[in-house]
Amino acid sequence: MNRKKRILSGMRPTGKLHLGHYWGVLLNWRALQTDYDCFYMIADWHSLTTEYEDPRNISENILEIARGWLAVGLDPEKSVLFRQSKVIEHAELHLLLSMITPLSWLYRCPTYKEQLKELKGKDVHTYGFLGYPVLQAADILLYQADCVPIGEDQVPHLELSREIARRFNNFYGRTFVEPQALLTSSPRLPGLDGRKMSKSYNNVIELFSDDKTIREKVGQMFTDPKKIRINDHGHPEGCVVFAYHRVVNKNWPDREKECRQGQVGCVACKKQLAELLMREIAPWREKYHYWEKHTADIKNILEHGNARARQVAEDTARLFRRNIRLE
Ligand code: TRP
Repeated sequence: MNRKKRILSGMRPTGKLHLGHYWGVLLNWRALQTDYDCFYMIADWHSLTTEYEDPRNISENILEIARGWLAVGLDPEKSVLFRQSKVIEHAELHLLLSMITPLSWLYRCPTYKEQLKELKGKDVHTYGFLGYPVLQAADILLYQADCVPIGEDQVPHLELSREIARRFNNFYGRTFVEPQALLTSSPRLPGLDGRKMSKSYNNVIELFSDDKTIREKVGQMFTDPKKIRINDHGHPEGCVVFAYHRVVNKNWPDREKECRQGQVGCVACKKQLAELLMREIAPWREKYHYWEKHTADIKNILEHGNARARQVAEDTARLFRRNIRLE
């Protein structure tokens, strides 16, 4: 029997999960659990690259993210759910990879340039922040992951991981698997105002929101500014409400037509979207509330995951230490 292919992916513990996390990443992760050997990691050290001045929320955010993962159906019987900082080999490999990673690769990384501009009020002119993708490469290579399910925004980081793996293998002999990206098929969900969904823009819908909140948030979504009356012909391509219909409404092609032909008004369109979202979210929200009351179990699940992750990490560490002649 062939060994199942290995998957590793990770998420930073930044607070509450939102709908973008669900459709962009978690749906994919959940589906992959059956056919792949999955490792899903809470990237707490990655959070520190930007939150180093005030790390007090990180430990609560770790529990919060684990609660959310379990609620949407990541299954600790099938997948290894673990914390990066509890597997010390991530730090060791990060250090070794930093020796061979040219600075120019890091400076030209588009996420680095973008974040330097965007992260206002945080000083990210640090060694650790520049090395963010090196740490990410260590995460991936440590598990010899064949595939890495990620959103489009992470593609440059995966490319760097592949380049770093190749360089290491060239210098020291075949050590690491070159990982492939597995992109989600669902289109990216915009924030309520049409910009990128982000807590700092205050334009997200939290994944486990109650019905009232969902109705309110859908009510705030930007629509086509040219469609004022019900019968006006709409332009779904620029409309936030339509972007959500595309992911939750099986009949979205009909909705697209109705909107273009002026057969549906934005209020009715929003009302239907809210109903669909509420129906989709209700079962996860119930599980989320269950896990809110079972924090000790979550801690056990993570401990167990950390131990399983460590076994794999230690095997790889033996290999890379030997190949780099540091046994
Ligand atoms: N950088 C990723 C993000 O912000 C999180 C992450 C850390 C990650 N390590 C990883 C993703 C390894 C995939 C593989 O979403």
